[in-house]
Amino acid sequence: MKTVNIALLGCGSVGGGLVSLLRDQHEQIRRRCRVDLRLRKILVRDSERIREGVDQTLLTDDPEEVIESADLVIELLGGLEPARTMIRNALVESRNVVTANKRLLAVAGTDLHDLASVHRVRIGYEASVCGAIPIIRILRSHVNCLDVTQICGIVNGTTNYILTRMAEDSSTFAESLEEAQRLGFAEADPTLDVGGIDAAHKLKILAELAFDQRVCLDDVAVTGIEAIDGSDIESARRRGKVIRHVARAQRRGDRIEMSVAPEELPRDHPFAAVRGEENAILVCAAGAGEIFLRGKGAGSLPSASAVLGDVCDVATSN
Ligand code: HSE
Repeated sequence: MKTVNIALLGCGSVGGGLVSLLRDQHEQIRRRCRVDLRLRKILVRDSERIREGVDQTLLTDDPEEVIESADLVIELLGGLEPARTMIRNALVESRNVVTANKRLLAVAGTDLHDLASVHRVRIGYEASVCGAIPIIRILRSHVNCLDVTQICGIVNGTTNYILTRMAEDSSTFAESLEEAQRLGFAEADPTLDVGGIDAAHKLKILAELAFDQRVCLDDVAVTGIEAIDGSDIESARRRGKVIRHVARAQRRGDRIEMSVAPEELPRDHPFAAVRGEENAILVCAAGAGEIFLRGKGAGSLPSASAVLGDVCDVATSN
């Protein structure tokens, strides 16, 4: 049986979830995928700190040691640096990469994909958009036969969690954000969530796949949810509406129009039923019509499960 040695960069909320999934599903993956996944090293800032469920002997703060241990590198550090340099180094040394780093992919995805193709390795990035929803896989495998006219969705779990709590429990914006941070949904810098920038990063990744063309991050018109308060939600409710933070990309001739903004939607709209940290995606395609997907978009295990799906895929494909 093939053995694949794994290096994990980062052991936060998603990294910790992945360590537990790799342990709990090890036998099942051996049996079903015919591959033995071995977690060899985990890069952390503080290798002395005890992390529940994580083998202390795997921890290191030495970036070189961690990459050298692996056939496959999983990047869960987030942010631009040192993630970009570490991924580039891994690709140049012909190691496959799996990442959840939407910000890095939105800013430097083309360069990284080109580098992977030159070195004949793969980058898996399912976990970068919509957590457990397998939208990247669907777009990657069907884009040539799906003539997509529009893709829209709720792509940030933190903002959806905040809007849900404000509407259903009358919690304040600040209380709901604090709760989302405590539950591990929010970014280290939560202004990326509430300001709509995280959603814009994800929309860029989705639009490039859906329309098979390059788009510019600066072309996304972004409005966050910071200005929404209880009275906006109550006023929408009185009119039979709910507020959701929606990312949209739409083809208009040769141009792709992109926006992220709060929208008032009728109560029977499919996005209205998307609650808490859930995400949803609606793909409109000529021929196929509408395809709707809904699931957990943030959190330790849902995001880790998307990472693990990519790991199995990449580990069994070459
Ligand atoms: N902060 C992100 C969110 C994490 O809330 O959706 C998952 O990408």
